[in-house]
Amino acid sequence: MQKSNKTPSRGQWGSSFGFIMAAGGSAVGLGNIWRFPYITGQNGGGAFVFVYVLCVLLIGLPLLLNEIALGRKSGRNPVGAIKETGGSKFWQSAGVLCVMVCFAVLSYYSVIAGWTIGYIFTELINIPVDFEDFVQTPLYVIPLCMVFILMTISVVLGGISGGIEKAAKFLMPVLFIIIILIAARAVTLPGAGAGIEYYLSPDFTKINGKVILSALGQAFFSLSVGWGLMITFGSYLPKNNNVIRSSGWIAGMDSMVALMGGLMIFPALFALLPGVSPDEGPALVFNVLPRVFDQIEPFGNIIGGMFFLLLLVAALTSSISMLEVPVAYFIDERKWSRKKAAWTIGLAAMVLSIPSSLAAVDGNFFNKLGFNFFGKQITGFFDLMDFFFGTLAIVVICLMLSLYTGWVKNIKEYASELSMGAVSFEGFPKKAWIFFIKWICPIVIILVLLNMVGVFGEPGEGG
Ligand code: PHE
Repeated sequence: MQKSNKTPSRGQWGSSFGFIMAAGGSAVGLGNIWRFPYITGQNGGGAFVFVYVLCVLLIGLPLLLNEIALGRKSGRNPVGAIKETGGSKFWQSAGVLCVMVCFAVLSYYSVIAGWTIGYIFTELINIPVDFEDFVQTPLYVIPLCMVFILMTISVVLGGISGGIEKAAKFLMPVLFIIIILIAARAVTLPGAGAGIEYYLSPDFTKINGKVILSALGQAFFSLSVGWGLMITFGSYLPKNNNVIRSSGWIAGMDSMVALMGGLMIFPALFALLPGVSPDEGPALVFNVLPRVFDQIEPFGNIIGGMFFLLLLVAALTSSISMLEVPVAYFIDERKWSRKKAAWTIGLAAMVLSIPSSLAAVDGNFFNKLGFNFFGKQITGFFDLMDFFFGTLAIVVICLMLSLYTGWVKNIKEYASELSMGAVSFEGFPKKAWIFFIKWICPIVIILVLLNMVGVFGEPGEGG
């Protein structure tokens, strides 16, 4: 099944469709169905959605292509890709950061995925759960999180075409079917109109610095850009693949699922729980939706179970890709076997997930742990990890990678890499891409970073 002639042990995607499903599966995750709706709710609804779409098109997509170009050109993991293309130790550190980010985020992402597994059962057997009580019970949360990491390891052990691609080709269509069914039910509820209005008609006066930052941060998180993931997945692509078309599919799929995520949640929320505010935060999906499902007659609990199953499927196709990045690093650079790499890193992620699980328990050491970052107070192990790895490091990686291909290397070589197998990229699109990587992306990211450290404006949430 492994067809690469250069390095047969690395593996390769079996088909373009398989790559799109796997990379799309990485992009479509908790970020779309859990994070996107609550961030939208916290940032005022429709206007945020509008800014988000612009961020995906103008910043996310060029950076996505940048990573794929680097990956396919070098045929390596993020560290190897920079080494292979002649980057110094300094630029290689961006690759090291990618490996660290994927490992670190995997550990706390699995905690949320573990909650999801719990909710599938409580919905199906129809027992009401109090979200606060549930997340404060490590006896439930820790084992569920471990089960999720074991599921992730078992897919990654199967390799590229035999494991990740096969799982994604099956799981992604399942996800689309479930999401369409639930969104269709939500928008046809009596009274759904108010939610659709809130969600889709932008009030442009609500756009400010914080909204833009949150939208950009959400775009990087959701597209899996800035994690070295697209470098790694790009490295398993054959040269004749039309990466422009594939990237269009990936970004399109990711945005569609996020938009559908909102379409499942806001109409149902406004129709069934008119008193509850949409800016509930991270608990939105877990706290509000079960109450919504309770009120759907008939089969509310089945729809609820299906919803959390959907969330689990989305989380799994993302977590396998997160594990694959450090695994690819250890296979390429340290000559480990896939089996040794997947088990070692997976088990280490399990250990690191424990403090993140405990961070939800009031009064616990990991709950109280805090850090003041340029005036922005971050409290709790989970939030610290999410801020430093899931937010700050990603922005830094995006900046370093655009400077690397745009200024340190000859960007034209990377543009030609992209047009290989995609003739339509020649001409204007190619010139536009070069301009975005050299100028627009770095400038926007530097502004975001300056805002995050509070150089101007209020220290932002975004990135
Ligand atoms: N894009 C995923 C999500 O939306 C998160 C992710 C990032 C997964 C990077 C893998 C790698 O949830």
